[in-house]
Amino acid sequence: MAFGRDKIELRTLDQIRLMRRAGLVVADALAAARAAAKPGVTTGDLDAAAAEVIAAAGATPSFLGYYDYPATICTSVNEEVVHGIPGSRVLEAGDLVSIDCGAIVEGWHGDSALSLVLDDADPADVALSAVTEKAMWDGIAALWAGDGLADRLNVVGEAVEDAVDGSGVGYGIVEEYVGHGIGSQMHLPPDVLNYRVRERLTRLKPGMCLAIEPMITRGTIATETLADEWTVITADRSRAAHWEHSVALLPDGLFVLTAVDGGAAELGARGVPLASLD
Ligand code: MF3
Ligand code: CO
Repeated sequence: MAFGRDKIELRTLDQIRLMRRAGLVVADALAAARAAAKPGVTTGDLDAAAAEVIAAAGATPSFLGYYDYPATICTSVNEEVVHGIPGSRVLEAGDLVSIDCGAIVEGWHGDSALSLVLDDADPADVALSAVTEKAMWDGIAALWAGDGLADRLNVVGEAVEDAVDGSGVGYGIVEEYVGHGIGSQMHLPPDVLNYRVRERLTRLKPGMCLAIEPMITRGTIATETLADEWTVITADRSRAAHWEHSVALLPDGLFVLTAVDGGAAELGARGVPLASLD
């Protein structure tokens, strides 16, 4: 493509309505995996719970087979940041578990992740997950500025960084993995950075659909990949959290496709209008 500028596809309202259907399947699958997560169950049990919901909805899991990825969800425990493969690992009290899930409906994708801490949680892990979730919502809400879309994609990384710095804890913002455009494929341009940059990023336009997904650690930003070639861990083995939603940018506001309420509560709290998909 000319000058290496990746074309960003804009979606029609009809396409965004299909993405909403995919988003709701992902929300249901994540709810099932979250409900299954308790000490004594395996990460494979969480995967089965999510897979069942996606199949029952007549949807397709997007991770399974993606570059030969072997499961429906990713389960990333404690020092694992993202892309942990579910299997025979037994969850324990105090584990910090990030669950990431994607599904396809009629060719359209949804992608979302959440973190949770099992019983006997370390308050520092609960705080890490809460700050990561807040950073995600602040990053989403920053896409809207007053009476219209914000100017450029830089606002996401700025808002995420402000939320993390504002916590007053010395967290690390992972830079090697970023959010992305989403739609007819899971990963599309543009990259959505979770940190501040000087250069001007993509101009925001109605019809863009983006996955916003900060990954925050209690220590370093440096990561390593395990021998399974998937599991990403922190280089200092500090614990990490990951939250993600897929969001549609529209002329009348934002719509969080993978949130059951479309983002009404969190967007409303930040003065951002919920777009109408009617
Ligand atoms: N869902 C991840 C993301 O948020 C990608 C998962 S990679 C896979 O971008 F191989 F597990 F699918
Ligand atoms: Co994603």
